[in-house]
Amino acid sequence: MIVSARSVSLTYQSADGEVEALKEVSFDINEGEFISLVGPSGCGKSTLLSIIAGLERPTSGTVYVDGEAVTGPSEKIGFMPQKDQLFPWRTIWGNVTLGPELRKQKDASLAESLLERYGLSDFKKKTPSQLSGGMRQRCALIRTLATDPKILLLDEPFSALDYQTRLSVSADIHGIICNEKKTALLVTHDISEAVSLSDRIVVLSKRPGQVKDIYDLTDLKGLSPMERRSDGRFKEFFNEIWKELDINV
Ligand SMILES: Nc1ncnc2c1ncn2[C@@H]1O[C@H](COP(=O)(O)OP(=O)(O)OP(=O)(O)O)[C@@H](O)[C@H]1O
Ligand SMILES: [Mg+2]
Repeated sequence: MIVSARSVSLTYQSADGEVEALKEVSFDINEGEFISLVGPSGCGKSTLLSIIAGLERPTSGTVYVDGEAVTGPSEKIGFMPQKDQLFPWRTIWGNVTLGPELRKQKDASLAESLLERYGLSDFKKKTPSQLSGGMRQRCALIRTLATDPKILLLDEPFSALDYQTRLSVSADIHGIICNEKKTALLVTHDISEAVSLSDRIVVLSKRPGQVKDIYDLTDLKGLSPMERRSDGRFKEFFNEIWKELDINV
């Protein structure tokens, strides 16, 4: 088990009073797994990622990463936020080496080889605006991978893309993550995206988010995201999860 959330609860204190965001959330992620987290808007998905990333402390409960309780940000975790958030004034090279630079790592060879491996070497001197949406997303992933995290947390990384681009970019990013043998936790609103990419899907209830169900998609393992979408079982999983989410809204 590389990530283990144990009875994680978080209540925000705000000027208007308390907001109970998460309640007694427990689940595990095995090394190399691709897990999606789905749930109604505002149910605490981003909050849960922030807690796992060590950016937010739970009110009660604990998250363990590699067997150690999370008490702050860790080198083991890479966070890829919603929208690519590349710096427009930095070149592609300047963007992908940002993580190593901030950590004062002199060695940028991992960034270099990732750019090479994933076909962005020729774009090193370009700026993000000169790249397509899909390439920017690939660049954002490479930036996250450049510090060599074991675990990737992805918060709706494809939501800014149009439907067609989203299909190919999500398959592309999924391929890179599997190829690099990383563990991933993806937040998405899109059930079909979750079914097409994941080993398991964690369904949260409406706020306060609680684990409602965990779907095991081992039956679909070995199929590419596109192959999954045309498999008969795809619709069955989709419908089951859809029903589960629908009664919450
Ligand atoms: N800093 C904060 N202070 C007070 N309340 C907050 C804070 N951050 C989030 N919340 C509230 O906590 C709840 C969970 O928020 P969160 O952003 O984790 O949900 P989410 O599932 O990611 O939503 P979405 O699907 O819209 O991205 C929401 O009701 C939100 O308004
Ligand atoms: Mg969110």
